Amino acid sequence: MSREGILAGLDIGSSKVRMLVAELDSGLSPKVIGLGETPAEGIRRGLLVDLEKTIGSVEAAVIEAEKSAGVEVNSVLVGIGGNHLQSIDSYGMTPISGPGGRVTTEDIEKVLEAAEAISLPMDREILEVIPQDYTIDHQGGIKKPLGLVGMRLEVNVHVVTGKVNSRQNLVNALDSLGLEVEDFILGPLASGLAVLTPEEQRLGAVLLDIGGETTDIAVYYDEAIRHLAVIDLGGKDITNDLTSGLRIPAKEAESLKIQKGGVLGGIMDPEETVSLPSVNGRKPWKVAVGVGTSIVEATVERIFDLVRRELRSCEYVDRLPMGVVLTGGSSRLPGIRELAEQILRMPARHGFPRVLDGEGVELSSPELATCAGLVLYGFSGRRPEGPGDLDRGGFFGRAWGGLKSVFNRHF
Ligand SMILES: Nc1ncnc2c1ncn2[C@@H]1O[C@H](COP(=O)(O)OP(=O)(O)OP(=O)(O)O)[C@@H](O)[C@H]1O
Ligand SMILES: [Mg+2]
Repeated sequence: MSREGILAGLDIGSSKVRMLVAELDSGLSPKVIGLGETPAEGIRRGLLVDLEKTIGSVEAAVIEAEKSAGVEVNSVLVGIGGNHLQSIDSYGMTPISGPGGRVTTEDIEKVLEAAEAISLPMDREILEVIPQDYTIDHQGGIKKPLGLVGMRLEVNVHVVTGKVNSRQNLVNALDSLGLEVEDFILGPLASGLAVLTPEEQRLGAVLLDIGGETTDIAVYYDEAIRHLAVIDLGGKDITNDLTSGLRIPAKEAESLKIQKGGVLGGIMDPEETVSLPSVNGRKPWKVAVGVGTSIVEATVERIFDLVRRELRSCEYVDRLPMGVVLTGGSSRLPGIRELAEQILRMPARHGFPRVLDGEGVELSSPELATCAGLVLYGFSGRRPEGPGDLDRGGFFGRAWGGLKSVFNRHF
């Protein structure tokens, strides 16, 4: 049966489809009541490439989540991610129209609309407009212009775009399962909400979600996302390199990675040998674990090198004292935190979803960050006080932290 006050977050990743079901308890704290997790099929680097297979994977995750939660789910908050996401800076300007020259809500809407007026190819659409700062009559650095006096309002924004068909394909897939999309939320935005502390969002940090086929980079500074990028590499590339490097079947490569994989000596004993099945029916052969881990390390280094290059192109690279926060399934590789510190030259920590409670559901998983952020996002918009007042502390003030400035007005 469906119940009031229930929310479901759906993360359709390249490796796994996950659905988290949560409800507000009497103290208005979100409590996770169910989780469904199934291998993802029909998704390539975050984009839907096989409708039927995707529907099958999502259906299995939904059934599992509904069963464990004991409720029927009719609508979902969906994370949107993948290598099609791109971000650019834009700018808008409008005369201030309010009485006595005071900035009104309409002025803010208007200036953001002006900033959205960018030319895009036919196959792309705006997914999110993230205000960076406002300027009134040449005085910049303003976060909340509402009610301030002046003649001219300007805004700098970060615009995130994605493929039009990506969202439409997801809507169609979910529609065929009788699921309504309550909202689409950028995956990295949801993950950041779930794992970053308010200090990290304010003082400067990078969220790095290393998933199955993609690595998301989201740079936070002064309570807003300042840079967003997606790299076309993830855990499956590590497995593929093991498959070709050791000439073993993909299934064996995946289990070798999970059981013995690690970087920077983050493994038991590199001299230990394991017996591996060969491809083409050849005899199994013995290999030192260290050979496998050097392959793993080379691929992870490649990922971090690309991250470093991406960060260099971001003007906030020198303003990230809180360092890197690692999420995604591939962040479970032993030694990866140390390697991140070495290559990116900043402190690193593992990120786990916070401020979510769950009975019988294991929430301390780095790969649940996106799902957890989706339900936190949904509840923050549903709390009784209404979405305009997020400064009063309490659960939602803490959970929402600095991300309150992000408008989600495009769906
Ligand atoms: N213990 C582990 N050690 C190493 N890698 C792991 C471990 N557990 C999971 N992984 C890897 O994590 C990856 C999946 O991560 P995740 O579930 O975050 O991906 P996803 O969200 O489905 O994909 P994406 O975000 O790229 O679309 C897989 O490649 C898997 O092999
Ligand atoms: Mg993911």
